[in-house]
Amino acid sequence: MHRKTPYPDQLSGSLLEAARRHADQRLVRFELAGKAYFAKRPERYESLRYWITKGHPQRAFRREVAQLKAFGARKAPVPAIMAEAHDCIVTADHGPTVLSLLKQNAVGPEMFSRLGQHLWQLHELGLAHGRPVLRDLCWDDRRVTFLDLEAGATLNATPRDYARDVLVLLHSILVSKNTTREDGLTFMQTYFTLADDEVFAATLERVKKLWWLELLLYPVMLRHRQRGKKRSEFIAIQTMREAVVQYAEAVTPTQPRLDDETTMPGA
Ligand SMILES: Nc1ncnc2c1ncn2[C@@H]1O[C@H](COP(=O)(O)OP(=O)(O)O)[C@@H](O)[C@H]1O
Ligand SMILES: [Mg+2]
Repeated sequence: MHRKTPYPDQLSGSLLEAARRHADQRLVRFELAGKAYFAKRPERYESLRYWITKGHPQRAFRREVAQLKAFGARKAPVPAIMAEAHDCIVTADHGPTVLSLLKQNAVGPEMFSRLGQHLWQLHELGLAHGRPVLRDLCWDDRRVTFLDLEAGATLNATPRDYARDVLVLLHSILVSKNTTREDGLTFMQTYFTLADDEVFAATLERVKKLWWLELLLYPVMLRHRQRGKKRSEFIAIQTMREAVVQYAEAVTPTQPRLDDETTMPGA
């Protein structure tokens, strides 16, 4: 008995055939009948470390596909699955990533307000992405699409999950080329103007709890600065914490500052 797939047979058949021609590549963009698609397969781990941290690649892949369908069913802006096999999915191309647009200086400050709005819209569906970094957000001049529902995507999200999304995206903005601290504040302004105060409180609490990380990374930050590095994943953790507090002080002047002990002099 031929199992009915949710995809239009003709197209999904041709897409899987086209994807099979690139079977050696884990992720590939290809065109069919004038339209662009991405074929994605399970990871092939080189080192044991990945097996330990990410678990069985097939299972991780199936989990990602299940999350994509669950998010899609909730009308979330995630890639549409156009065809599926046990070891491969084909999704529609949702445009360039925000990271690549930033590198080309192809987006202005309005993009950061837009990110705040689109992240809030995802959260309004009760969903959290888990790791919304700029290389996994696409912009097609109409909407932001959230890719890569691997790490931590949640269907029944809590304010803590939303806070983590806000901080991961803020950190990704602050570590990326061609962005400013103001861009981070613009993102937060739009997001927190729309979001519940509960999420803001959870974000502030989470940022305060990260003081140990800044302490731990202080020597690395210092070395980066001594080498004239303006941006690094580590330095951006401090910039992110300061930006959240700066925002907090701007919106609630009475808000207590980060207690000064946790901020390293001259860091
Ligand atoms: N549907 C899509 N539309 C546009 N770009 C995509 C799509 N799927 C993947 N990409 C591109 O491929 C990159 C890797 O895909 P992703 O799903 O994030 O896999 P990985 O697990 O390797 O991070 C993305 O950062 C993006 O540049
Ligand atoms: Mg990715």
